Amino acid sequence: MFITLEGPEGSGKTSQVPPLAAYLEQEGFDVLVTREPGGTVVSDQIRDVLMNLKNVSIVPRTEILLFLAARAQHVEDLIRPALEAGKLVLCDRFGDSTLAYQGYGHQTDLETLRYLLNYATGGLKPDLTLLLDIPVKVGMERKRKNDSEWNRLDAYEEAFHKRVRKGYLELAKLEPNRWQVIDASKDKEQVQEAMRQVVMARFKQ
Ligand code: TMP
Repeated sequence: MFITLEGPEGSGKTSQVPPLAAYLEQEGFDVLVTREPGGTVVSDQIRDVLMNLKNVSIVPRTEILLFLAARAQHVEDLIRPALEAGKLVLCDRFGDSTLAYQGYGHQTDLETLRYLLNYATGGLKPDLTLLLDIPVKVGMERKRKNDSEWNRLDAYEEAFHKRVRKGYLELAKLEPNRWQVIDASKDKEQVQEAMRQVVMARFKQ
């Protein structure tokens, strides 16, 4: 089972991953936690290039290809072998981040992106995607308060992040069986509980 977590900046997704993984392990699943961009040595090196605030000259096409390169390596090295070994893979961001950020955010043609994405992943798609949805202003404020890492993409203008959020909600509507939208503006414990319920419900189907 391949589960991905998606959401705009400040949705709190990253801090929800460890307690969700611990809960699923308690429930008897063999869980692999990973994240994008990253997850392997090569993909982490690509992450450094992408996130570095000094790399202001990176153009959208370069950004797309770097995210996809990191993902291709991640899928082949880590995700696919883990799924083949019967693990539950919990991934903090995956292909839908590319559609939301580079597609809706940078307004790149979605069909081209889907084609490239399919090439990079060898057709691998998540079984379940949790969208931790939060209004842009609330998310950004949270991110500032929590003193989280501020990266090159966070620095894009507010309109960019608004398009990202709208994009996520549209993607969720297009594939309602794969996506579950969770209100991430609630408190941490409530969000965690909602995530657990959604994941466990999927196993009971
Ligand atoms: P995060 O570690 O806070 O999730 O940061 C990753 C950043 O990279 C975040 O701003 C979203 C962005 N991103 C994309 O723009 N496209 C992608 O395909 C991925 C995986 C991440």
